Amino acid sequence: MDRLTRETPWGPARAVRTGQGFPSVVLLHGFPFDHSMWSPQLQALPGQATLLAPDLPGLGASASPPPGTPMSAYADEVVAWMDEAGFVRPVVAGLSMGGYVAFELWRRHRERVGALVLLDTKPAADPPDAQAARTAAAEAIGSAGMAAVVDGMIAKALGATTRARRPEVVDRLRRMILATDPDGAVAALHAMRDRADSTADLAGIDVPTAVVVGEEDELTPVAVARDLADRIPGASFRAIAGAGHVTALETPDEVSRALAAFLEELPRG
Ligand code: MLT
Repeated sequence: MDRLTRETPWGPARAVRTGQGFPSVVLLHGFPFDHSMWSPQLQALPGQATLLAPDLPGLGASASPPPGTPMSAYADEVVAWMDEAGFVRPVVAGLSMGGYVAFELWRRHRERVGALVLLDTKPAADPPDAQAARTAAAEAIGSAGMAAVVDGMIAKALGATTRARRPEVVDRLRRMILATDPDGAVAALHAMRDRADSTADLAGIDVPTAVVVGEEDELTPVAVARDLADRIPGASFRAIAGAGHVTALETPDEVSRALAAFLEELPRG
C-alpha cells in the first residue's frame, strides 16, 4: 500500500493506493469517516484493479478546507487525485457522502467517470429539517467536539445486526469518528447541508452503474436506493442483508464480492 500526499490550498491531503492494472477505481468514503472505511476492499481487490482511496478534505488525515467550501470543491479534489495517480476515467465508488461527491463529479467532470458504484447514498438534496439538523450537529461539534455526536452517529449508521453482533466494527467506527478533526467535520456538514439536488442528473448517466445498499440502512432506506437505481438507465441494484449504512465495513466480504463482480463485467479497452 502506497501512502500519497498532495498539497492543496488549505494544506496537505492524503490518500492510499494499492493494486495494479485495469480498471482504476477511486473509493470515496462516507462521513465522518476516512479512507480506512475501505480497508477490507483495499485488501481484497488489489489483484483485480488499481485502487485509490483519498481522505476527503478535512476528514481522516487530509487538512480541513475553509468554512463554506462547497461540495463541488470536494469533487475537484478527487479529480486532482485522479490526475496525481494517472487515472484517466476510473470507476468511482462512493458511499453516502462519497456518493454525494460522485454525483458532483458526474455533473462537473463526467468525462473523468468511467463507471459508478453508489453505495448507501441518495441523490436528493437535504430538506429543511435535515438542513437544520446539520446546522445543529455542526454547532454541537464546534463547541464540544466529536464526542458530542459519536453515539447518535453510530446508532444511525450501523445496522441492528452490526450493533448486536459485531462489536469490533462498532469500536472501529467509534474510533474513526472520534479521530475526525472537528473543523473538517463542520466543513463537511455545511457542504452536505448546502449540496445540490442530483435527481435530475440521474437519467443522463450513461456509464455502467451499480447501486448497493444495506437492508438495515436507516439513513438510506432500501426503497430510496432502489428508486436511485431505477432512475439510472441500466443500473444494477443489490440490497445486502445484515448491513446498515456502512456496508463496506459491516459486510465487507459481500461488498468486496459485489465490487469484484462489477469490475469483472466492465468492458475492456
Ligand atoms: C455518510 O455516511 O456519509 C453520511 O451519513 C451522509 C449524510 O449524513 O447524509
